[in-house]
Amino acid sequence: MSGMEFNKLFAAILVAGILAMLAGFISKKVVHVEDPHENAFAIEVAEAAGSGAMAVEAVAEPILALLATADVAKGQSLSKVCAACHTFNKGEPARVGPNLYGIVGSKHAHMEGFAYSEGMKALHDKSWDYASLNAFLWNPKKAVSGTKMVFAGMKKPEDRAALIAYLRSLSDSPAALPSDAEIAAEAVVVEKENADIPQEPQQAVEKDKDAKAEETKSEAKPAENGKAE
Ligand code: HEC
Repeated sequence: MSGMEFNKLFAAILVAGILAMLAGFISKKVVHVEDPHENAFAIEVAEAAGSGAMAVEAVAEPILALLATADVAKGQSLSKVCAACHTFNKGEPARVGPNLYGIVGSKHAHMEGFAYSEGMKALHDKSWDYASLNAFLWNPKKAVSGTKMVFAGMKKPEDRAALIAYLRSLSDSPAALPSDAEIAAEAVVVEKENADIPQEPQQAVEKDKDAKAEETKSEAKPAENGKAE
């Protein structure tokens, strides 16, 4: 009979063990479900920062000044990451995303019959100019809230410039390149918006400073040099 008792005891211990494991498993699941946003954000930031510093940029770096000399062939090759969802030639059908022929200068949500997100449809009155494309390709979700375009963003300004120069070429009559005045205005907006963001991580501020220093250098203002003394 003691063998029987032992079996009962053993079974009880086994059941208790399985229950404990299940409880642990379930509680992990529950905890995991509670903070998916935090995780998603951390991953996005890590990707955005690339291989270098963990900087969180406030707004996309300016690209208008890069467009005139941007490498269209490089842009075409970069567009391969878009081709999973987009077609580029005139008259081609939509895929996951709309056809992009002639997108520069077209309205947001330009393709008739395509099921755009509410966020994109709400911007229909606005044309896609270089600045809005720059912001959207840098961080689609930030530029168009609720967008259906699932794309982390293209973080290097030279890459975005090349890609946008390629998009510009996809047209019966390509849009004019930005004027000097437009280029200057863009730089002011970007600087202002970055300055307005409170509590940015230090690296982002440093990076912004570097960018400004570079601009100052290239403009070679004697007054600035004098002030530094
Ligand atoms: C995973 C699929 C996917 C990828 C990759 C992708 N897109 Fe999109 N794209 C979409 C979808 C879906 C929309 C519609 C967004 C909406 O309705 O909010 C869209 C919309 C757009 C629009 C706005 C079109 C319009 O009619 O207003 C542009 C511009 C655009 N994408 C460019 C690009 C470029 C350039 C790339 C590559 C760097 C790219 N997309 C990569 C899916 C994608």
